[in-house]
Amino acid sequence: MYSLRGQENIPREVLRLKAIYPGSFDPITYGHIDIFERASKIFDHVTILLMNNPRKRPLFSIDERLEMIKESTKEFKNVDVKVHTGLLVQYVKSSSIKIVIRGLRALEDFEYEFEMALTNRQMCPELEVVYLMTDLKYLFVSSSMVKEIAQFGGELSKWAPPFVEKELQRKFRR
Ligand code: PNS
Repeated sequence: MYSLRGQENIPREVLRLKAIYPGSFDPITYGHIDIFERASKIFDHVTILLMNNPRKRPLFSIDERLEMIKESTKEFKNVDVKVHTGLLVQYVKSSSIKIVIRGLRALEDFEYEFEMALTNRQMCPELEVVYLMTDLKYLFVSSSMVKEIAQFGGELSKWAPPFVEKELQRKFRR
């Protein structure tokens, strides 16, 4: 028997476990792709939720980010992408999916994730956050880092897919 608040009596084989992977993905990197790929093996379905992070000024528009995520997920049968504006808890409350996935890298992520998870849980107690540790290869990969490297013409093939690199080059050529 699988236990999840409110679903304790539903057998695991009947309950289809779904999760939401929220983020600003500005732009998507191999670090994000590693997280949703691993999550897609744990959960029956993963929804990537593209949102704005009010603490960051995005380089790419929502449509541009959405296109890059779609390109990254096209091989994955149980991963889809949705856009949401507003609070994460508003989406969770309106959805039947209550599990949120976040990737965790070094210590600075922890403080931010801790604050976000506890604040979100106060607003939406049924929300449960599952953290996946980054792969060692992506410990220091972030969207900010790839933007910085791209800005100065650096090579990105280890950290972001070729179509993302192309979009970054296009942005910084302007
Ligand atoms: O990829 P990011 O930038 O780390 O993602 C952060 C994100 C988008 C998940 C976070 O900023 C968020 O949830 N934004 C929506 C607004 C919200 O719910 N804020 C309350 C957080 S305590």
